[in-house]
Amino acid sequence: MRVVLASDHAGYAMKKELAPYITSLGHEVTDIGTYSSESVHYPMYGRLAAEKVATGDADRAILVCGTGIGISLAANSVQGIRCVNCTEPYTALLSRQHNNTNAIALGGRVIGIEMAKMIIETWLAANFEGGQRHTMRVDMLTAMSDKPVPGAYSALEIS
Ligand code: RB5
Repeated sequence: MRVVLASDHAGYAMKKELAPYITSLGHEVTDIGTYSSESVHYPMYGRLAAEKVATGDADRAILVCGTGIGISLAANSVQGIRCVNCTEPYTALLSRQHNNTNAIALGGRVIGIEMAKMIIETWLAANFEGGQRHTMRVDMLTAMSDKPVPGAYSALEIS
């Protein structure tokens, strides 16, 4: 898979270690920065990486900031991106199987490098289960993100 990798300064050290690891798993990595520990703004990196996935330049995005929070919020601002902040592999696995996530965020100041690697290995290998139930729910998320104005998603029916 074509994986776009991005971080802010707080995720830089972890990202640097993750790039060769992801390559060793057989994936093609494009590292779009940041390239040092100098302070930068996580929204720029999360947004740019997510745009690469949304436009088809990459298949998946792996993002690192201090907590994984800010950069995942930035990624989720892009239509069609489903990004989850993971601290353990079970969430990563289910986020693929049920939610068809196409981006993942990690907290470089929260988890260790070995946990990060385990999360990534699990997430990259997992498939969306599909089926009527999960597909309908993911389609609902897409429909909602296409109509960001409150109240615009009037087709929402809870049953
Ligand atoms: C940077 O200090 C920090 O706020 C950022 O990396 C991230 O944790 C934000 O959510």
